[in-house]
Amino acid sequence: MQVFQGKVAVVTGAASGIGLGMTEALASRGMKVVMADVEEAALMKEAERLTRANFEVDPQLADVSSYASVERLAAAATARFGKVHVLCNNAGVSGGGGKPIWAQSQADWDWVMGVNFWGVLNGVRAFVPGMIAHGEEGHVVNTSSILGLVTGAGSAYGVSKHAVTRLTEGLYFDLKAANAKIGATVLCPGMIATNIITSARNRPETLKDESEGDAARNQIIAAMDARFKAEGMAPREVGEKVAEAIASDQFYILTHADNMEGVKRRFEDIHNLRSPSAPPPLI
Ligand SMILES: NC(=O)c1ccc[n+]([C@@H]2O[C@H](COP(=O)([O-])OP(=O)(O)OC[C@H]3O[C@@H](n4cnc5c(N)ncnc54)[C@H](O)[C@@H]3O)[C@@H](O)[C@H]2O)c1
Repeated sequence: MQVFQGKVAVVTGAASGIGLGMTEALASRGMKVVMADVEEAALMKEAERLTRANFEVDPQLADVSSYASVERLAAAATARFGKVHVLCNNAGVSGGGGKPIWAQSQADWDWVMGVNFWGVLNGVRAFVPGMIAHGEEGHVVNTSSILGLVTGAGSAYGVSKHAVTRLTEGLYFDLKAANAKIGATVLCPGMIATNIITSARNRPETLKDESEGDAARNQIIAAMDARFKAEGMAPREVGEKVAEAIASDQFYILTHADNMEGVKRRFEDIHNLRSPSAPPPLI
């Protein structure tokens, strides 16, 4: 999709980090952006800031893990702006790491898969039929992770992100088979300076983790959060990469070139029928 001016984007997880970076990059190219998020205060604050800067944005509270909520978001976007051209299924949470697969709780799996995997699938199901039906050019961007391409220790997060990568590859083929004028991109970021490490701030009461509030765990989270913010790439830079990928119809985005080493290692292992070797440090 080459013309952005006057077109409409929906970005989930738009109140913070990469989603906010995408919102800024797309709005600065003249798009109207529906900003969807569960974190109401941050959403309203950022939407007001962008409105004051003369961008056309529409904040919408939506929980991507619920299909009914995403369906309401699609209805609200269409009611406000008519057609949706760009859909960024970006909302995601970090969770379930640091424990073996079998020790991650049902609540860990339900929360992480609910937002990271079902959130993306809900977006595709609720928006893509309408995007195909209006017949104009468009694009779907799904946020995976470098952890959705490489191998490594078990974590609900890594599993959810591999699912997003494969879902988006499937979407690419399905859109081509349908002759839709809609491109697809899977965004696989490395370390970005966002609030991802403190994702539990939005964890629903019904899916709480029993180790939450544990002092040792809180210390690790605080140190990781500081490191991501100090060493991570600026979210707006990721937003620019996404806008460029939409314009050039690029499928895979890796934000950090050196992360490709882990991808190569995984496919070399598969090619040589070797057991998985540990990926090089990614962050
Ligand atoms: N930051 C990184 O280093 C990194 C690396 C790889 C992938 N990612 C992915 O990037 C995406 C964006 O994360 P970020 O790093 O900007 O983190 P972030 O926490 O700064 O932003 C994520 C946003 O998603 C929102 N959100 C959480 N649950 C939601 C739900 N159920 N419905 C709607 N919105 C919800 C949060 O409120 C927040 O505003 C995620 O999918 C994440 O997995 C991040």
